[in-house]
Amino acid sequence: MCGIVGYIGRREAYPIIINGLKRLEYRGYDSAGIVLSTPKGFELVKTKGKVSDLEEKSTSIDQTPTIGIGHTRWATHGVPNDVNSHPHLSNNGRIVLVHNGIIENYESIKKLLIEKGYTFQSDTDTEVLVNFIQLFQEEQNLNLRDAVRLALNEVVGAYAIAVLDNQDPDTIVVARLGSPLAIGIGKDEFFIASDASPFIEFTKDAIYLEDGDMASIRLGEEVAIHTIHNNEPVSLDIQELQLNIEAIEKGGYEHFMLKEIYEQPRSIRDTMRGRLLVDEGIIKMAGIWDNQERFLKAKRIIIVACGTSYHAGLVAEYMIEDFARIPVEVEYASEFRYRNPIIKKNDVVIAISQSGETADTLAALKLAKEKGAFIFGINNVVGSSIARITDAGAYTHAGPEIGVASTKAFTAQLTILSLIALKLGKKNGELSNEKYNLLTRELDRIPELVEKILIDCEGKIEAIAEKYKDNRNAIYLGRGYNYPSALEGALKLKEISYIHAEGYPAAEMKHGPIALLDENMPVIVIATKRGYYEKVVSNIQEIKSRSARIIAVVNEGDEQVIAMADDHIFIPETAEEFTPILAAIPLQLLSYWIAVKLGKNVDQPRNLAKSVTVE
Ligand code: M6R
Repeated sequence: MCGIVGYIGRREAYPIIINGLKRLEYRGYDSAGIVLSTPKGFELVKTKGKVSDLEEKSTSIDQTPTIGIGHTRWATHGVPNDVNSHPHLSNNGRIVLVHNGIIENYESIKKLLIEKGYTFQSDTDTEVLVNFIQLFQEEQNLNLRDAVRLALNEVVGAYAIAVLDNQDPDTIVVARLGSPLAIGIGKDEFFIASDASPFIEFTKDAIYLEDGDMASIRLGEEVAIHTIHNNEPVSLDIQELQLNIEAIEKGGYEHFMLKEIYEQPRSIRDTMRGRLLVDEGIIKMAGIWDNQERFLKAKRIIIVACGTSYHAGLVAEYMIEDFARIPVEVEYASEFRYRNPIIKKNDVVIAISQSGETADTLAALKLAKEKGAFIFGINNVVGSSIARITDAGAYTHAGPEIGVASTKAFTAQLTILSLIALKLGKKNGELSNEKYNLLTRELDRIPELVEKILIDCEGKIEAIAEKYKDNRNAIYLGRGYNYPSALEGALKLKEISYIHAEGYPAAEMKHGPIALLDENMPVIVIATKRGYYEKVVSNIQEIKSRSARIIAVVNEGDEQVIAMADDHIFIPETAEEFTPILAAIPLQLLSYWIAVKLGKNVDQPRNLAKSVTVE
């Protein structure tokens, strides 16, 4: 929910931290700050706004030091303003800290500190933490590492922190519990970041700090990791990063979101690569294969996820029940974790998450694990927290998704869930060989069909967006497999264009939402040939007779629906089960172009962050 970057080495830290913060802006972008460590003290600057605003303000500081930490914020405690921005300084000016997460018991700690004479400038939990560290350091005459450790042992909440002490300027102390933190290891230099993207051009060697661990990073020494709880040494697990620099740049596109929409033929293909061997009729997935007994004997599968990933889960429910006849429940992770759910030892719980860091999804999984369920993760980010706590899993291979609105991660999730459903159905004999072969061949064609949509839609969706951009509301409708498509279409529109949009199963219209229809209400309907076509046609007639405007997503060659629709977008015909992948593309483009035409910040919509690592 916030991004942290740090550097300690021989180069100037400033440009490394600023560029790193720009790459992490997807995590939060309402304020930013940087502090550099010099023998004379700290050079600190922070501001409300983006990293570019921070850059403008940073001309006032000495940019030559070789040690520093920086932060890009998504506000939790206190409005976004200069004072609440990180880094935060301790009262004595000796310690400075950046933080991603929430200190839940900050009020009681703050009360204690106030009683001891501490004062506070900001409304943040972070300023409380940095002063709490000062308290331990002063009262027990400790070095920074020990003071941080003791303070963290009293803290309830989630954090990734980086801390500097101006009386020990060659050290950075970092710690994590619930929020990610990676340490890049170069030659005579170290990098710190919430993910590896800020240091990918400098080193491929990284350590992902585990929950409950802290590290002391000193120039000229090996990184020393210990547990926060009891100070036990932890052995170093240095991993080789697979990320490359091109994957995290815009590559000539105006926005990351557009780039990521256009990447989908590739990302879907990559997700299937080595897994779907269509000529042999084989689906290879080690995570499923090695645990097939758990899946096939499961009394039910529970899918937990949030946002777009939840919509992918809804499609999976239809597919797994249809192909493998295993009962599936899909739940918002945030509800599941708090409602005392019934979880049995022979349940399989699947968490779907692009980032692998979503706090609610992570907590739901931990709960399922405690209750003895087998937990399986579908993530895009390699080495993420969810990937590390699950019993098994499968990566989506969509590549880094930077735009806050999820696009290619969604279609990659649908792809992998299709593979899982097909594999389970084949394995337990519920899916006939004939249907299996037909569906695997159809799935194999999806990347080329997505490519075709992208070519055919060129210019067309932009023109439709121009017509509808000034509407303040929209309704999305679909049935069967495309009911989740309607939900996802509506989510995309509202999150980047701030237009109020709702998705419904088309037949639910007459149970309430139909009251909203008049000539000002655009209704986007997915009406593909193979899925309840006639039923959806009747729903469209009902809409038409209320004078609402219809944008129809239909199969090529459709005549009936396009005769009623004000505008239409063609997608190729495929198996109904895979139409959500195809339908997603024009709906993503429609939201994208409406947001662009309204002049909105497409990649960094207001109030949002890419990975929601707080509750
Ligand atoms: O990283 P996750 O998939 O767990 O994230 C879940 C949601 O926060 C995410 O899908 C969110 O809804 C997106 N901004 C949607 O575009």
